[in-house]
Amino acid sequence: MANIIKRPGWNLPENLVTPEAAFLNRRRFLREAGFATAGLLSASLIGCSRPADGAPADPPAKGGTPAASGPTTRGYPAARNSDFNPGWPLSNEKVAANYNNFYEFSTSKSAVAKLVGKFTTTPWPLKISGLVGKPLEIDAQELIDQMTLEERVYRFRCVEAWAMIVPWTGFPLAKLIEKVQPQAGAKFLRFETFNRPEQAPGLASLHDYPWPYTEGLRLEEAMNPLAMVVTGIYGKPLPKQHGAPLRIIVPWKYGYKSAKSIVKIEFVDKQPATLWETINPREYPFESNVNPRVPHPRWSQATERMIDTDDRVPTQMFNGYAKYVESLYPKA
Ligand code: MTE
Repeated sequence: MANIIKRPGWNLPENLVTPEAAFLNRRRFLREAGFATAGLLSASLIGCSRPADGAPADPPAKGGTPAASGPTTRGYPAARNSDFNPGWPLSNEKVAANYNNFYEFSTSKSAVAKLVGKFTTTPWPLKISGLVGKPLEIDAQELIDQMTLEERVYRFRCVEAWAMIVPWTGFPLAKLIEKVQPQAGAKFLRFETFNRPEQAPGLASLHDYPWPYTEGLRLEEAMNPLAMVVTGIYGKPLPKQHGAPLRIIVPWKYGYKSAKSIVKIEFVDKQPATLWETINPREYPFESNVNPRVPHPRWSQATERMIDTDDRVPTQMFNGYAKYVESLYPKA
């Protein structure tokens, strides 16, 4: 019988999952995906590895003054929304800041924080276009200043079967959607990340990825109260490696649905192509809700590993957020 470690609201049995070493069959995966070229073969493609001791998180700006390359700390720390304040122990901030999936920089999680130095996040024009009554072009900081920031403690679950519990700062995505007034024909949102190879070495070296990073949600999913536009973490503006200055968080879905450093949101009538679905639709389908009963070909999804303690935790349907989202998926 596996060890069971109790955490408030989250049981942690150990050793129930396929060892990490079993997950990578890169060549087969890439062959199937039709990407068997040098660039992609050298990549680890959403692969798990233990965090290495790396550079510390990007330091936040000092109170109220503009950071050299990031937004101001005005509004931080934001008041915690009591509806999303479950009292779970938070994951270690430094571990989270040095264990990042951000392929624009590197496929190595521990390398990302060390490679974001040249990445500039101010100014940061955000464009919202497509099937909306009020298209918007606005600098990220101006948008942040217009919104009421709040903090929410969420579970975050990567398809690679690692997980963390972090306090995100931001505002409901629904508030931004209301601002631009979607037209009747708008059915999906398409998110697009920056594409500046001179600032992001992964963009320059991983030639065969269908850059820029794109993701998408159904409009009803994006309107769900859980969906956030995130501007900060651990009470400070987002460090670059976590997706400064604006990213999406949809905690009931696998982590790749939460696009980082977005520059564009487009409202469209058809399901948009996404980077990971384009690479391998079988392994990274558009919907991608956390579901312990549906194993990924390379990762059992029955349990997950907490990034800082290595505790094993049973994975919950919709990552524990069923009461908020199950009505969106009648057959789940
Ligand atoms: N967004 C962009 N632009 N590029 C990426 O490579 N990786 C995704 C997601 N958003 C990714 C991205 C994946 S696979 C995960 S698990 C999360 O970001 C990781 O977020 P974190 O590094 O802040 O924990």
